[in-house]
Amino acid sequence: MLDIAAPVKGWIGRRLLARATRNGLDLTSLRAVPGPLEMPLQRHGVDPVPQLGLTRAAEPVTRLSHLFGMNVWLVTGYDEARAVLADTSAYSNDIRPLIGTQGVTAAGSIGGLGFTDPPEHTRLRKLLTPEFTRRRLARLEPQVAGIVEHQLDLMAASGPVVDLVPAFAFPVPFQVICELLGLPPEVRTRFEQLGPARFDVSRGGVDAFGAASESREFLFGEAARQRSAPGPGLIGQLVIEHGDEIDDVELGGLADGVFLGGYETSASTLALGVLVLLDNPDAMALLRDDDDAADSVVEELLRYLSVVQVAFPRFARHDHELFGKQVSAGDVVLCSLSGADRDDAFGAAPEQFDPRRPAMSHLAFGHGFHRCVGAELARMELRAAFRALARRFPDMTLAVPRQDLRFRDLSIVYGIESLPVRLGPPTEWPASVERETTRPTATVGDQARHGGEGDLRRSA
Ligand code: HEM
Repeated sequence: MLDIAAPVKGWIGRRLLARATRNGLDLTSLRAVPGPLEMPLQRHGVDPVPQLGLTRAAEPVTRLSHLFGMNVWLVTGYDEARAVLADTSAYSNDIRPLIGTQGVTAAGSIGGLGFTDPPEHTRLRKLLTPEFTRRRLARLEPQVAGIVEHQLDLMAASGPVVDLVPAFAFPVPFQVICELLGLPPEVRTRFEQLGPARFDVSRGGVDAFGAASESREFLFGEAARQRSAPGPGLIGQLVIEHGDEIDDVELGGLADGVFLGGYETSASTLALGVLVLLDNPDAMALLRDDDDAADSVVEELLRYLSVVQVAFPRFARHDHELFGKQVSAGDVVLCSLSGADRDDAFGAAPEQFDPRRPAMSHLAFGHGFHRCVGAELARMELRAAFRALARRFPDMTLAVPRQDLRFRDLSIVYGIESLPVRLGPPTEWPASVERETTRPTATVGDQARHGGEGDLRRSA
């Protein structure tokens, strides 16, 4: 999914304003998020703050702030957000002018899809999409199932109380994405540490962009290495099929976008999704008993949670009118996906979780040219994980008082710090946690249980 960017543009305190203006704007040096601009990232539990809904009702396109002579617009309406996300002639995704030298390589190319405009975006995305067709993803399905079952076995062995975040929500997508990319086990621990910091903007842009450029560097190195020794996954495949069409920066950037896109987004949806299911035992039972129900439960969870709170920022290419507002060239337009996905367009009580709601395409994966390339993989993974969890531990309950849960503040990808659950008797005992699985390496969950670095929430 998403690389950093969206609301960071607005995270400029008054003191920084003067300095940044003097020295040239560089988001990577920002340490503060001014109050009014935090609103689209704030939630109460799983819900966006009421102010977001009030803003949508009053002005689905509203001016959030004015900085450096530019307006920052917030779009919270469903139709309005779709229109912005679909329009590459009015908006650019190129954030380079705002991030100084971090994340920009010597070649001046930032790499990755999210920051790229057509025609480069079209060219790079075309390279990636064949790796995510249903046919290719079908090949990953047994591996995903194996990864899920293995984590459940480990949980069963370490219960009855387990923190679902390090034991399940993170290791499943982490292992899936490492398998997809073909990353060797020895580089995985470092990635585990870089992931969450990248989206955590509670200290302004500093941590986020630092981690962003580090993880990118890491993958540039991996891309260069696999150029001479192609691995078994996506990076190796791209080298073999398109090696002479892309340089290492582009290759590393694509891998980087895929890695982080596939990791924290899915992990957060998994963890928060379990919390929602614990609050909705009917949906949990539906998942357990009805093979066909997983689709609608997962789609509704995606909409309801919309963990990617804002899409990549869009920069206006020219002056134009946007649903009655006058947008000027250079203005920043932030689409609040969590806001748009609670629009009345979804029918009755959009603020409630209802897997029986009539199907309608949500914006949790964005829309248009930059729509999530990994959406089908995410769906496949989430269906497998929620279904298997509901079947293995149908009597699972929260193991701590609700008010003790800590959520991830001011993160572009919303999440929960930990989710201790009491598993209850499993419906089937693991054959053996030692048994052969498709996923041979130690996982975040393994490490967390042994107090190692794998507990992302402590190491981030
Ligand atoms: C629940 C899981 C996921 C969610 C909620 C999610 C959400 C999103 C969103 C909102 C965008 C940006 C849309 C925009 O600004 O227009 C995006 C883009 C992207 N996502 Fe995901 N994503 C998820 C999983 C994945 C997975 C599994 C992968 C890859 C393995 C992935 C790879 C990407 C990439 C590469 C982009 C950039 C696409 C482009 O700019 O053309 N995402 N995602």
